[in-house]
Amino acid sequence: MAIRKVGVVGCGLMGSGIAQVCAQAGFQTVVREISGELVEKGLKGIEKNLDRMVEKGALTEAEKGEISGRLRGVTAVEELKGCDVILEAIIEQLPAKRELFAVLDGLCPAHTIFASNTSSLTITEIAAATKRPQRFVGLHFFNPVPVMKLIEVVRTIATDPGVYEEMLAFGAKLGKTPVRANDGGGFIVNRLLVPYLLDAIRALEEGVGSVVDIDTSMKLGCGYPMGPFTLLDFVGLDTTLYISQIMFDEFKEKRFAAPPLLKRMVLAGWHGKKSGRGFYDYADPANPKPMNL
Ligand SMILES: NC(=O)c1ccc[n+]([C@@H]2O[C@H](COP(=O)([O-])OP(=O)(O)OC[C@H]3O[C@@H](n4cnc5c(N)ncnc54)[C@H](O)[C@@H]3O)[C@@H](O)[C@H]2O)c1
Repeated sequence: MAIRKVGVVGCGLMGSGIAQVCAQAGFQTVVREISGELVEKGLKGIEKNLDRMVEKGALTEAEKGEISGRLRGVTAVEELKGCDVILEAIIEQLPAKRELFAVLDGLCPAHTIFASNTSSLTITEIAAATKRPQRFVGLHFFNPVPVMKLIEVVRTIATDPGVYEEMLAFGAKLGKTPVRANDGGGFIVNRLLVPYLLDAIRALEEGVGSVVDIDTSMKLGCGYPMGPFTLLDFVGLDTTLYISQIMFDEFKEKRFAAPPLLKRMVLAGWHGKKSGRGFYDYADPANPKPMNL
């Protein structure tokens, strides 16, 4: 099947990056948000990224114009009905994703392939809200999407093998390196990463070290590009909390349980970099200061 038009649902942190790489790869891309303001905010973010690429000489002005020309922001879900593939990147909550896909299933032609960017929900459970579980995969991108090379392509027991191969090829067309993963909670990366991040918060709670000292230790001691608290702020503490709750529910293991400090921070509205506060304060974004927790 020739993929020409791609739909992206959600234009937040991940959806905006996904829409950008789809348009960059030459696909007509329609991205849907729940309000006009959020569409505008997401598209502005993409525009800024493309401008930065022009400044760096990675794109010409003309190429930037072509990419922007392939991108369209909408609020009506009906606008997605002509898409060959739909990539979902909305909030990490099962009822919201199931409701969305049930609507899309009724709107889209039989050939449309559905993909979720969920980090922790089982793809099978989302796909079961549609009548096309054989045309349903996980396409798990990494943040920031335009930069990170990996894409986990997730197969359920119901995914058609031909559809799966097509989605692996689609991931490569987006300029990513696809890896094959089965539909086990957290797939490959989060199965390993989430317990590590939650353990860093537990170490902080137990007074093992400060935010800065734990971050510095993992950078300089393990060669990680950033420490766990910088990464947590980058991923989003609300998203991390949802993920840990879902993974705990799946495995019932302590290593996936959300530490109380994470819950308190999310309740306080400290969602990380995107909200201006998390383990660091981003009042001066170029010089984040550790919070006194
Ligand atoms: N943050 C990460 O590092 C990361 C990495 C990989 C995957 N993910 C997954 O990607 C998904 C999105 O995460 P995010 O970090 O971009 O969250 P986000 O909060 O930045 O963005 C989610 C967006 O979806 C919008 N939305 C909610 N319901 C919608 C609907 N029905 N239609 C259209 N838009 C809707 C919201 O308005 C919001 O702008 C989640 O499933 C998350 O687990 C996140």
